[in-house]
Amino acid sequence: MEGRILATMFLFMIIMVASPSPSSCARLNGFPTTYTLRDDGAIGYYGDQVAAATSNSFHDKEYGDVFATPNTFKEYYRPLANRQTDDDLQAFPDAWRSLAKSEFNVMNYGAVGNGQVDDTQAFLKAWGDVCGSTQGLPALIIPKGNTFLLNSVEFKGPCKAASVNFQLSGNIVAPNNINAWKDKEKWIQFYDVEGLIINGGGQIDGQGEVWWKVCDNSNCQRPTSVLHIYQCDGLRLSDITHINSPRNHIFIMGSNGVQISDILIRAPDESPNTDGIKISRSTNINIHNSFIGTGDDCIAIISGSSHINITNVMCGPGHGISVGSLGKEGAYNTVEDVQVRNCTLKGTDNGARIKTWQGGSGYARNISFEDIIIQEVKNPIIIDQKYIDKSIAGTGTLLGQGSAVKVSDVTFRNIRGSVAGETAITLDCDDQIGCKNIVMDNIDLTSSVPGKKVSAQCKNVQGFSTSLSPSVPCL
Ligand SMILES: *[C@@H]1O[C@H](CO)[C@@H](O)[C@H](O)[C@H]1NC(C)=O
Ligand SMILES: *[C@@H]1O[C@H](CO)[C@@H](O)[C@H](O)[C@H]1NC(C)=O
Ligand SMILES: *[C@@H]1O[C@H](CO)[C@@H](O)[C@H](O)[C@H]1NC(C)=O
Repeated sequence: MEGRILATMFLFMIIMVASPSPSSCARLNGFPTTYTLRDDGAIGYYGDQVAAATSNSFHDKEYGDVFATPNTFKEYYRPLANRQTDDDLQAFPDAWRSLAKSEFNVMNYGAVGNGQVDDTQAFLKAWGDVCGSTQGLPALIIPKGNTFLLNSVEFKGPCKAASVNFQLSGNIVAPNNINAWKDKEKWIQFYDVEGLIINGGGQIDGQGEVWWKVCDNSNCQRPTSVLHIYQCDGLRLSDITHINSPRNHIFIMGSNGVQISDILIRAPDESPNTDGIKISRSTNINIHNSFIGTGDDCIAIISGSSHINITNVMCGPGHGISVGSLGKEGAYNTVEDVQVRNCTLKGTDNGARIKTWQGGSGYARNISFEDIIIQEVKNPIIIDQKYIDKSIAGTGTLLGQGSAVKVSDVTFRNIRGSVAGETAITLDCDDQIGCKNIVMDNIDLTSSVPGKKVSAQCKNVQGFSTSLSPSVPCL
């Protein structure tokens, strides 16, 4: 008898695993393709076109694979040509995830949430349960109306579920004195968490003021970033406010298939090195519909990054949207396939910028800036192949001559607006290497001071231009 019950249970388990039960794992047919919604919150779909374009075992793939991982992103995403809009594509997975959600509230793990008591341990305990959970979409709930003081903390994967949710609806603050920081390199790190979703409408405050005071213009030790994302394929970060980082606000490193949207980043104009989003060694990164105003680059794309798509971003104040710097201290660095579209730069030092050091090697290629509105920007368009930052400027440091990061296939198109400085366009390329195939099309930049002229400078550039004001002498 007992054996029979065991056998029945065993069979049941096999059925659960092998074929999702109809009650909890509904199948939706035909729109936009066929999904399998699994108990663990993961999603498979083995619609006609998708299956044909990929392997037979597609239904074994998990949601994260479909949308994110480097090898599958393109193959699985693109064949869904019959979808009506991207929203349709997203609607079912989102609905399913919220149905399947299982919640772990930090308040149930001893968090106090008064902004004074250190809640780090409570968060880590809750994270342990989230990460170990296989039920639905496990979510760490950080409730609204509370402020949680966290010290340096690492939320580590891999997690058991295909996707986990860090639902930040309340606020998180850093210690407001430097000595209290346990790790002066990092504050909040996510490491090796696949399918991580960070959202919830809350705020992350890096309490940067205490660091800016001591770090301005000096190379003092300072946390690299407030939100450090390391090896988190398939990250979706949305609906979070990030303020006052000691240095970079969001650092995306070694991650593929990342969606960042509807975020707000804010730090004062004069806060030193406070990049908004920094991207390193990552591919398939999409940044949309966000507002970034800070003391350094709004977005900086550095070495080893490719397929970066930035649309509908408002930047300002700050130092613009930059590729680089690349090639510092002779480094071999590469960046390619970057598209910046429909962005506004307001009151920034620079606009669309590519910066590389002399003496480096590698390349920055296939980069486009299109449909950009410029409002009172000092240097709206810049390629600087002789970049030096202020830490060594004027020190007489000799940089390698005759070697440079190659800059090629760069397009600036439909860029218009007002310039706060004298030079609207600067293309300053290496005497020997030069910049190749630089295209400027339909650019109209005028001084923000009525009647004042703006100029363009250009050295060692090969390419062409159409409909350009001011005109660039060497194109
Ligand atoms: C970039 O993102 C926009 C907005 O989501 C999208 O329409 C476009 O197809 C993307 N481009 C690439 C090359 O992925
Ligand atoms: C361009 O961006 C603006 C605001 O940033 C947005 O309102 C508009 O819809 C975007 N246009 C397109 C075509 O995406
Ligand atoms: C250039 O980059 C875009 C993405 O921004 C990509 O779609 C395109 O295929 C790339 N072109 C080449 C020639 O690699």
